Amino acid sequence: MEFSIAPLKALSSLRSDCLVVFLQQSAEGSGLADAEAVDAAVAEARQDGDFTGAVGNTLLLGRVPGLAARRTLLVGLGAAPTDARAWRKAAAAACTALKGRAAAQVHLACADGQQPVIEAAVRAFGDFAYVYSATRKPDPDPACRVESVQILAPSRQAAAARARLDRAVAVQAGVDLCRNLANLPGNHCTPAHLGKVAQDLGKRHKLKVEVLGRAEIERERMGALLAVAQGSQQPPRFIVLRYEGAAKKQAPHVLVGKGVTFDSGGISLKPGAEMDEMKFDMCGAASVLGAFEALARLRPAINVVGLIPATENLPGGTAVKPGDVVTSRSGQTIEILNTDAEGRLILCDALNYAERFKPASVVDIATLTGACVIALGHVNSGLFSPDDALAEALLESGRQTQDPCWRMPLGEDYAEGLRSRFADVANIAGRAGGSVTAACFLQRFTKAYRWAHLDIAGTAWKSGAEKGATGRPVPLLVHYLLAQEQGASPR
Ligand code: BES
Ligand code: MN
Ligand code: ZN
Repeated sequence: MEFSIAPLKALSSLRSDCLVVFLQQSAEGSGLADAEAVDAAVAEARQDGDFTGAVGNTLLLGRVPGLAARRTLLVGLGAAPTDARAWRKAAAAACTALKGRAAAQVHLACADGQQPVIEAAVRAFGDFAYVYSATRKPDPDPACRVESVQILAPSRQAAAARARLDRAVAVQAGVDLCRNLANLPGNHCTPAHLGKVAQDLGKRHKLKVEVLGRAEIERERMGALLAVAQGSQQPPRFIVLRYEGAAKKQAPHVLVGKGVTFDSGGISLKPGAEMDEMKFDMCGAASVLGAFEALARLRPAINVVGLIPATENLPGGTAVKPGDVVTSRSGQTIEILNTDAEGRLILCDALNYAERFKPASVVDIATLTGACVIALGHVNSGLFSPDDALAEALLESGRQTQDPCWRMPLGEDYAEGLRSRFADVANIAGRAGGSVTAACFLQRFTKAYRWAHLDIAGTAWKSGAEKGATGRPVPLLVHYLLAQEQGASPR
């Protein structure tokens, strides 16, 4: 999908397979210059009761007298003032209205005050055009036949519009990379494959990438990661990516992504139903790689480190067993009471490794708990942080990008459940508050820096007919990192 910006002028003579116009419920006309023909069509459609202007309401018209465009699509924005959610709904509705249509070149009219259409359209049309093709033949008649989207913005806003578009396109490239990687089956996306993808990303964008194998992970004394990996024939990887956009002395922001390429539960085996979806247990890792793709395109003046512990979690004769006690990189011993609580094990070693960077902040991203899905559903990611400023920054990035998260608690009273009689800490507490106790476990390994944890178990992929990765929370992460460009502080 090609996205571009062009000056908004002479709508009547615009040649297009489909001219898309966004309209507020109450507004009289389109608010566009030289749009008598459009406004007349809108007035008629309203009068006929065919178009209300409610959010997501659409009307696809054929040839409109006075317009050169082959089709005109009216899209409702609802009542003013229009929020980001309305834009998201409206842009998605525009795509739905074009499903199966032979409209290859689409133009979006962006009236004064309609700049949010840029992000909304790139997200919606990008998702509309997305097809998974790694291990299957393409659909003979795809839903999306749109090839290019041109946004028509008033000339005096062209520079600002272009900057917004560049940013949105970079984010979408990150989202696409994240989705492609996460959708890959577990036998294709192994820990070694994640390492290759990181190295390839590094080569394409001149990033420093290091991929540690089993021997090097042993040398790092990452006993918790190794314990999870020991049941699998696939050797683990520990991936380190560095984006250097600022002076070396500037403290980096660190992203840590859970990279369990398949989570069977291990000896604490999961039930069979929907177990295939545990190929998505590396969505945290995929979102870190996606964020790096966007960063490398946008080149902000900050430093960012990405850390990915990658492994399978399988049962077998060499697998770690319930009751085993292992020593994590931090020196804390862990009693593994449930081998299915493996994400926190691989993350705790990565979080401890992060200390060496003296980070300005550390954000880990993980499909960590089923309990988070019960708590927040598929709408919000779970956000956990003892740092109010960091939490607020991430909440705001989620709001701004329509990739929301919701703050959840931490605290000693929850952490008490992790007590063990045989180790410094157990890897599970009771069933109650499962996403919180998981976060409390991680918190024990994050004392050296500002830290936040995103539990994306409910938001990283969709189940059912639309099964597939969403690319979340790449938009949130990129927004957060770009916002750090202003607030950068020396270490
Ligand atoms: N990867 C899962 C979490 C998960 C489950 C995400 C279902 C999305 C959907 C994680 O490794 C896990 O198995 N967590 C356990 C923890 C429990 C054993 C304390 C869980 O949530 O059941
Ligand atoms: Mn698990
Ligand atoms: Zn898992």
